Amino acid sequence: MSDYDRLLELIRLRRSIRQFSDRAVGREEIARLLEAARWAPSNHNRQPWRFLVIEDKQQINQLAEIVSQSLSEKLKSLPEAAAAYAGEFTHYATFFSNAPVLLVVLHKQPVSLSAPLLAGLKNPELVSGEPLSVAMAVQNLLLAAQALGLGTCVLTGPLLVQDALVGALDLPARHDLTCLVALGHPAESPAPPRRKTIEQIVEFRNNPRRTKD
Ligand SMILES: Cc1cc2nc3c(=O)[nH]c(=O)nc-3n(C[C@H](O)[C@H](O)[C@H](O)COP(=O)(O)O)c2cc1C
Repeated sequence: MSDYDRLLELIRLRRSIRQFSDRAVGREEIARLLEAARWAPSNHNRQPWRFLVIEDKQQINQLAEIVSQSLSEKLKSLPEAAAAYAGEFTHYATFFSNAPVLLVVLHKQPVSLSAPLLAGLKNPELVSGEPLSVAMAVQNLLLAAQALGLGTCVLTGPLLVQDALVGALDLPARHDLTCLVALGHPAESPAPPRRKTIEQIVEFRNNPRRTKD
């Protein structure tokens, strides 16, 4: 098998896992995931990622409870038609209580020097590159987990109530939440959700100099 085929297989087989067995995840395995994460590319090689590894089941449950309570308050403001999905929504933001390990993933805020450059942009965080760099580290971590037979799921749903989460987490200075990652040994093997075709996602802008294949 070529490197590409092996890589693509790993990429295609990775699934978001939301059911985990009780089996613990070893510190060595976690170290191997973080090793993959830290080799991701980053803006100006700033490596703006930070991972809080929560292994204490009680603390994980407590965080899920905080999200559940704050989110149900917030979901009350939804229009009636959308309110029907509130239960499902809460589940997708709190199922991490099933996981033996929760990674709280943070990105460092942009350097203050770049503030004048970013001021007035529609999407300064995106342009600064920090959250994007961290997303790349997370994808490395997810693929490393797949290669080790571990299951993961990224969550941003809980960030809808990020103030409540931050209040419970004591974050390092000048860091914001990027996402959570539920981690453990999988207790399900979901079918792959549908993917858009290449035709649906790509636009080749005409290059007049390109000869037809
Ligand atoms: C940025 C991001 C945020 C996500 N947030 C959630 C979430 O809050 N809850 C959840 O259950 N899944 C979440 N997911 C997982 C997606 O639902 C999942 O990746 C998608 O349905 C495709 O399935 P797959 O990962 O198995 O290929 C998130 C994924 C990404 C990349």
